[in-house]
Formats: sequence, structure tokens, C-alpha cells
Amino acid sequence: MEQEQLKNFRAWFDDYVAGLYGNDEFVNANLQLKERHSLRTCEEMLYLADELDFSDNQKRLSEVIALFHDIGRFEQFVKYRTYNDTRSINHCLLGLEVLDEAKVLERVERKEKQLIEKAIEYHGAKELPKDLDGQCLLFSKLIRDADKLDVFYVVTEYYKQHRLNPQEFMLEVELPDEPGYSEQVVDRILDGQKIDYNMLQTWNDMKLCQLGWVYDVNFTTTLKRIKQRRFLEKIVDFLPKTEDVEKVKKKIFEYVDCRIQQEE
Ligand SMILES: [Fe+2]
Repeated sequence: MEQEQLKNFRAWFDDYVAGLYGNDEFVNANLQLKERHSLRTCEEMLYLADELDFSDNQKRLSEVIALFHDIGRFEQFVKYRTYNDTRSINHCLLGLEVLDEAKVLERVERKEKQLIEKAIEYHGAKELPKDLDGQCLLFSKLIRDADKLDVFYVVTEYYKQHRLNPQEFMLEVELPDEPGYSEQVVDRILDGQKIDYNMLQTWNDMKLCQLGWVYDVNFTTTLKRIKQRRFLEKIVDFLPKTEDVEKVKKKIFEYVDCRIQQEE
């Protein structure tokens, strides 16, 4: 892929997204959230690509994947006013349709186009398909990590804003902000297992689930970055101060340290 193509993709992205803003402030706020998320995910992706010593071409591919990974989110929100895929549409597949309709990737070499599309398709899947291999697997793993890194940033900012100013909060909140959490969620994390989204009942469950994302991180360099930016500490800080939470914290922190040490 040429550098020139990347420039065109950036320009197309800006135009496409700009065209979806309208008079509804609620929709606009949510579109902006995803627009900024997409751009920051590009930065995270390039950070990881650099750490992993990618070639220049691999770096360009990384950037395109990150830029377009959530391209389906915009139409999803305009149409359904939610980011909940179960209640609306699979945003990964919708993204592929959007790119296809606008013929965005038309001039990309066949193999690279396929790679970009697969990485977009699988970035939101519960798990990657077992038969993925080679570059396809590599880029699919990478976007899942870069995405998580930025979502960690987004949610920690989000909790902070909400604490400061709960009334002015415009963004869509899917779960009730109640003081409790589900024992089942705690148990699964202590058991080293990922959490199913349909298990979540409160905001605190969501926060616990976010701590559990570390089990799904593919690269040690991602875990190092999570640690360096203190995302986990920040999330714990927004959870109730209970023995359960303390146990979860210990479990998660030890897990991260252990994986980092294994690499060294
Ligand atoms: Fe996504």
C-alpha cells in the first residue's frame, strides 16, 4: 500500500463522518466519541506496530485497519441511537458494507484488502476464529489490542466526567448506575475467565468486566502500556471499596505482572 492511499483514506474518513453530524446533540456527542476513538486507535495501533518492529507497509496497513475498524459505528448510531450490537446491528459487518458501498478499498491489492476486511470483521468478535493464521491473525490481534487500549482511556475519562458532572452527561449509558455488583462477575474474574456482556447488570459489573479485558490482551507490549498508563488502577478507583474488589484487583494485577515477567 502506498502512503498516498493512506492520505486518501484519511480524507475519505473525515468527509464521511462530517456528513453524518446533524441537529441532534445526543447523536452528535456520540458520533464525536467514536470519531475521536478511531483517530486515537490509529495512534495506539502505530505505537504497537512500532514496538513490534513492523515494516513501513505493515505500519500503513495497521493504520488503515485502525482508522476503519469502527466505521460501522457512525451509521449504527444515526440509525439506531445505540452502540449495542445485540439491540441493533453487528457494527463490524456494517462497517464492511459501508466501505464496500463507497468503494473505499477498491484500489487496494487483493490480499491486503482481505486482510484489512478480516481484521475489521473480527475486531469485535468474542473470540478470534481458530483457523486464522499468518498476517491475518497478526493484524486481527493487533487491532483488538489497540482498540482496548483506547477504550480503557475512553472509559476512565467517562467515569471521571460522570463523577464530576452526572447531570450534564449526554452519552448513552446502557446499565443502571447502582452501588452493587454481581457475585457471578467477580467469581469469573477470580477464576481467570472472560466475562460475557449479557452477564452484566450494573455499571460496576461493566467496570469489573473491563478489568477482565486483560485476559484477552494479545501482546505483552499492550499490557505494559496498560500498566504504564495506570488504567487498571483508575478503574478500581471507581469501584466500591469492598473485599471482593480488593481480591479482583490483586488477581488482575498479578496476572499482568506475571505475563510481563514471562516475556522478560
Ligand atoms: Fe468496534
